[in-house]
Amino acid sequence: MTANAYWVEYFEKVCKDGPAWIDYSNERVQLQTFGAVLEVSDSLLDRRVLDIGCGRGALCRLAQVLGAREVTGIDLASDALAGLSARHPDITWRGGDITEPDFRATLGTFDVIYSLESMQYLPVPECFDWIHDLLAPGGRFVAMFPYEHCPIVADTKARFGGKYVPPSLDAIVAWADTKPELGWAVRGLRFQEDQRVAAYATSPWTTSPGWDAPPNRIQLVLQRGKAG
Ligand SMILES: C[S@@+](CC[C@H](N)C(=O)[O-])C[C@H]1O[C@@H](n2cnc3c(N)ncnc32)[C@H](O)[C@@H]1O
Repeated sequence: MTANAYWVEYFEKVCKDGPAWIDYSNERVQLQTFGAVLEVSDSLLDRRVLDIGCGRGALCRLAQVLGAREVTGIDLASDALAGLSARHPDITWRGGDITEPDFRATLGTFDVIYSLESMQYLPVPECFDWIHDLLAPGGRFVAMFPYEHCPIVADTKARFGGKYVPPSLDAIVAWADTKPELGWAVRGLRFQEDQRVAAYATSPWTTSPGWDAPPNRIQLVLQRGKAG
């Protein structure tokens, strides 16, 4: 079975029958993730928004409520998206594989693109070229993902074998540095000992990532230049 066929089967089940927070530890971690991502989305008013690996579609629905003009959610789990199409017809739900050039060619361009917990299933750094092409000039990409040095990555890799590949942050920074017109920054989110108030503590934004202890998640923002 190819890695993608494996993930289609896995995520069809999770998106249909799993908890609303999918693969997050719990709903609080999911909510904090959405908050962190929306905080750096800039205004969504009248924007065209794409969510890569939209899962159960919660971020797409938030983007719509926040005034986005067009919202598109894409995911490998196309059967699960059928239910979303029926319940939320004002959002475009597209089953498909972002790694497929023919599928990408049908998507158009977007002012804001999200990838929450889907980067670990995509080839890095190649996917950044595609994302760059899908971003309109002046557009912004916001992602949250585990990277290769995250504390629990070894366990998750053992669970899913070579199919689960959290990216190298060095590879992402090297890619970003080839695009002088891009503004970018990352921060780390680390699970706190005491999670009564918030699951994660967040580090400051930086373009020189390096932490005393590896964070559990990386948040990345790429801002495409207006003329780029
Ligand atoms: C862990 S879930 C995250 C879902 C959602 N972004 C969230 O934060 O709740 C990862 C999602 O990425 C999707 N995905 C993985 N590889 C993909 C690909 N090549 N093209 C489109 N979607 C993909 C999976 O089907 C799954 O729904």
